[in-house]
Amino acid sequence: MPGRDVGAAEAATWLAHPGQPLRGELAIPGDKSISHRAIMLSALADGTSRIEGFLEGEDTRATAAIFSAMGVEIEAPAPGVRIVHGVGIDGLRTPAGVLDCGNAGTAMRLLAGLLAGQSFDTTLVGDESLSRRPMGRVIDPLASMGAHIDSDEGRAPLRIHGGQALRGIDYAPPVASAQVKSAVLLAGLYADGETVVREPHPTRDYTERMLQSFGYPVDISEGRVALHGGGRLRATDVVVPADFSSAAFFIVAASLVPDSELHLRNVGMDPRRTGLLQVLRLMGADITVGAAEAATSDIIIRHAPLHGIEVPVECVPDMIDEFPALCVAAACAQGDTVIRGASELRVKESDRIAAMASGLRTLGVAVEEAPDGLVIHGGTRLGGGTIESHSDHRIAMAFAVAAQMASGEVRIRDVANVATSFPGFDEVARVAGLGLEVASAGPTGGGPTGGTRPER
Ligand code: S3P
Repeated sequence: MPGRDVGAAEAATWLAHPGQPLRGELAIPGDKSISHRAIMLSALADGTSRIEGFLEGEDTRATAAIFSAMGVEIEAPAPGVRIVHGVGIDGLRTPAGVLDCGNAGTAMRLLAGLLAGQSFDTTLVGDESLSRRPMGRVIDPLASMGAHIDSDEGRAPLRIHGGQALRGIDYAPPVASAQVKSAVLLAGLYADGETVVREPHPTRDYTERMLQSFGYPVDISEGRVALHGGGRLRATDVVVPADFSSAAFFIVAASLVPDSELHLRNVGMDPRRTGLLQVLRLMGADITVGAAEAATSDIIIRHAPLHGIEVPVECVPDMIDEFPALCVAAACAQGDTVIRGASELRVKESDRIAAMASGLRTLGVAVEEAPDGLVIHGGTRLGGGTIESHSDHRIAMAFAVAAQMASGEVRIRDVANVATSFPGFDEVARVAGLGLEVASAGPTGGGPTGGTRPER
């Protein structure tokens, strides 16, 4: 199995229990989606770009390692800073081994598009979780552009054959997916003619807007993004805001724990990411943010009693990564919360519907599972128990929050992958007031993989 040593990572366990009210200020690490894209576009640009606020997570470091393996010089003069010496749109070089995306779906799907346009062959591999996730959603549109990608029945490893002549397509993805949109647009940089993506529901627009800030002409209108191949990117500096999806765990924790008043600084506020705020407010949460149109904002959360709701289906794509945190809020809210139209949760880093349902049941919550969501009967005091995170960073962090409201100790297994998106979460959590200890960090390491390897 290429990729990280999953067996070793599994030993890491948290012991979580009620702590203190969440008070004061908290700095949340950089946005994962933006950090991936900043590395990719600055690597392809002409000139040198500086990235500040880069997420020092395993996922984003895997992306940086992949571009280093393709001849891009990337300096890391300080934590959260990268200086990328771009090689130009046609300057990547054949890597010596396979390219290891680790746990990162964003890396693998976006790179599938970007690498489809190169003159050389590449192989993308991932860890056990990523190797289970569907890649047909990018392989199919890329194939219709002329790409040649072999896979294991629509799953990684992906063997991408270089030297194909790509042509632009007009594509309407069947699922709302920023990763699919981005893969097609990045292949479009290398395609003849115009590439158009029409979205069923708008998704995070970082790729198209970041292409523009690197000087690449992109036509963005409602529900449609289009670009012509054959252009070049100009180096620019990128400042990465705090990741809303990482902030979400503290937004929920501060809402739930009595006497909390927490300030989060400089959080990215893309409306395609912040659906959780809308839904928590419908549940009664007390959350203050800055100006509605601002790209980043401080967020102030005060404890408030929550009640269950039917989550508006139109909010679902705008909070797709926040459902583990929302499920915890729902379990602690009075009454029922109904989640529907969220079948995408079944193909994230784990099956998040099944993982949340079974974990909440372990803590004594009544939950009904549906193919596309769940009903959570909230309002009874959570108990303790042992939770399987299924190696999913967001399941682990969600249950660390749940434990703050539990009557017994919550043991959360297999938490090493939290480092993919939120390195140092347990320390930040303790500073915020959460009761959380690392019970066993587990051995690290494992043998060489013969390719790039995400740092741990
Ligand atoms: C991401 C897009 C989303 C999200 C993922 C990051 C991105 O996935 O769940 O965590 O950076 O483009 P989909 O595009 O598959 O919905």
